Amino acid sequence: MEKKFFDKIIHGGDYNPDQWINTPEIWDEDMRLMNLAHVNSATISIFSWSLLEPEEGVYNFGWLDEIMDKLHANGKEVILATPSGARPPWLAQKYPEVLRVEENGIRNEFGVRHNHCLTSPVYREKVRNINRMLAERYKNHPALKMWHISNEYCGECHCELCQQAFRDWVKEYYHNDIEELNEKWWNGFWSHRMNDWSQINSPKNRGENHVSAMKLCWNRFVSDSHISFYENEIEPLREITPDIPITTNFMRMYDGIDYQKFAKKMDLVSWDNYPAWDKGRNEEEALAVAFVHDAFRSMKDGQPFFMMESTPSLVNWHDVNKLPKPGMQELSSIQSVAHGADSVQYFQWRKSKGGHEKYHGAVVDHVGHENTRVFRDVARLGEVLEKLSGVVGKESNSKVAVVYDWENSWAVKHFCGFNNINRNYLGECIKWYAPFRKRGISVDVIPMDADFSKYNTVIAPFLYMLKDGTGERIKTYVENGGNFVATYLTGFVDKNDMCYLGGFPGDGLMDVFGVWCEETDSLPEGMKNTASFSGKDYDVVHICDIIHSKGAEILGEYKRDFYAGMPAVTENSFGKGKAYYAAFRNDGDFTDDFCKMLIEKNSIAPDCGITADDGIEIRKRGNHIFIMNFSDSAKKIALDKEYTNVVSGEKISGETVIESCKYIIVTD
Ligand code: GLA
Ligand code: ZN
Repeated sequence: MEKKFFDKIIHGGDYNPDQWINTPEIWDEDMRLMNLAHVNSATISIFSWSLLEPEEGVYNFGWLDEIMDKLHANGKEVILATPSGARPPWLAQKYPEVLRVEENGIRNEFGVRHNHCLTSPVYREKVRNINRMLAERYKNHPALKMWHISNEYCGECHCELCQQAFRDWVKEYYHNDIEELNEKWWNGFWSHRMNDWSQINSPKNRGENHVSAMKLCWNRFVSDSHISFYENEIEPLREITPDIPITTNFMRMYDGIDYQKFAKKMDLVSWDNYPAWDKGRNEEEALAVAFVHDAFRSMKDGQPFFMMESTPSLVNWHDVNKLPKPGMQELSSIQSVAHGADSVQYFQWRKSKGGHEKYHGAVVDHVGHENTRVFRDVARLGEVLEKLSGVVGKESNSKVAVVYDWENSWAVKHFCGFNNINRNYLGECIKWYAPFRKRGISVDVIPMDADFSKYNTVIAPFLYMLKDGTGERIKTYVENGGNFVATYLTGFVDKNDMCYLGGFPGDGLMDVFGVWCEETDSLPEGMKNTASFSGKDYDVVHICDIIHSKGAEILGEYKRDFYAGMPAVTENSFGKGKAYYAAFRNDGDFTDDFCKMLIEKNSIAPDCGITADDGIEIRKRGNHIFIMNFSDSAKKIALDKEYTNVVSGEKISGETVIESCKYIIVTD
């Protein structure tokens, strides 16, 4: 879906002029340096509440007026933050209920950030109030282009207010019927039948932590609390500045919030990208990050997203903070754009003089001038980004989707059984995503309730829990000609983590896949079975389903143990489509070989005709093709025709070499 908020790639990042309130000459120097760095935007005021409202009801916006004006005078777009991520000490002191209570039942003291109750009416009101003040003050300011709500919503609160809110949430979820709750949480087990909603508490180690249906409800509740906290925050902004887009910054695949659900409430998705480069596995990390980008892009039906933060050099929160190789951050930024980001933004513009993050990378170092390696790199990238405005708002149409679903990730984490230590849902999804990306095929990463109909092939690894209606949706998709791939432990439970009776996979999927899973085996670390597929043998590790064909064609079999000779891979023709069941986990070539078969059989073409050595990532966005080398050595690429190098403007064709950590961008 093409949607444009800007007509250029936004290049900027978190800027904290509030930390330099006593040295305004630094502000002027910042403007000079931003111009030199080809920075066109600044995200400001993220943690400035104690300066904006130094005492309850006493406001101080003068400094913000000044910096907004300065930024505007220098042609910078402002992304203005709401300050709820960290509150002033007076607020916590006067209203202790705003502070978070940990699982142990103890209320936190004032300190750090992201330390607030999600329910507290006082906090919600105070946040609404300061947001209203900001919106009123800057509604007509020409620099204001986007709202950045709070910062990296995360965590949970176990205070009495949140306990009560959880009880109310559960009550509504189960239609105010305590017997429905007893049924859905299977409370007959261990004598847990409840006769009053007040008997529900949040899950905790010293209390209830074995009812997986309840833990799922807690996850949903916490996630919904963040969403409703956000809705509370944006209420005055929507009212006063209806035309200013709103976002909040997500954190990779953070599992505390259902980002797929949250994204529907946002105008634009944004996320903070901190890959762990240079740990000897850059190609693997690049693939994992690509998956995350694709997940965020898919959250709003292919609409471009913002990469709201990244470090221009190192971070300060790894155990050991190695400097990334020269070129790595630039390549990483380009990868974001290749996958659908309309921005490259940093944390942070200028290193702070004191505080916890003073050694975190920044565009401007403590030395204060532009003659640093990092500054030069940022400025050079800024020039490149200025040549990429042609990709803004553009996205490609993927023919393949991998299902990664937040609710399923919770369910996979909570159940007790089979292999309790080797689950790795995300890792499995990336494993099935890789074969397509390696062949230059664009992939969407979608929840199980997304529209499947636009894809040729949908792969749903480890789809253990099925949300309401999923079985039917898979059935319809395959009936109408889709290819659907499932793996082990598919369709075991419904949304309450209650097993489907009558055979797995449940919810009508036995018919669609033409298989019945009678048992599931788990293999301790180091123990293996073998499965055949298409004339090759593969190791079976960690988990495998022992299945019977009920009409499906058998494409592969187990070779050892008492289930030798039973099906391990099947294909079922159902309606106009095919449903595949890959019943085992393999850490080698199986997924690649299997997906290669799917690609060939369904003529799924790469997005462009450029080919490359392994280790090169190719992604097409609009008419731009990004060719990126994340490997440690130079790699060859072969261009199928003449292209234009977007950065140099030169024509390019035939074979060429891309050095490690380098990229080229071409158009045809
Ligand atoms: C997060 C936060 C920033 C900063 C960076 C440091 O992404 O949003 O405020 O703390 O981490 O990497
Ligand atoms: Zn609370």
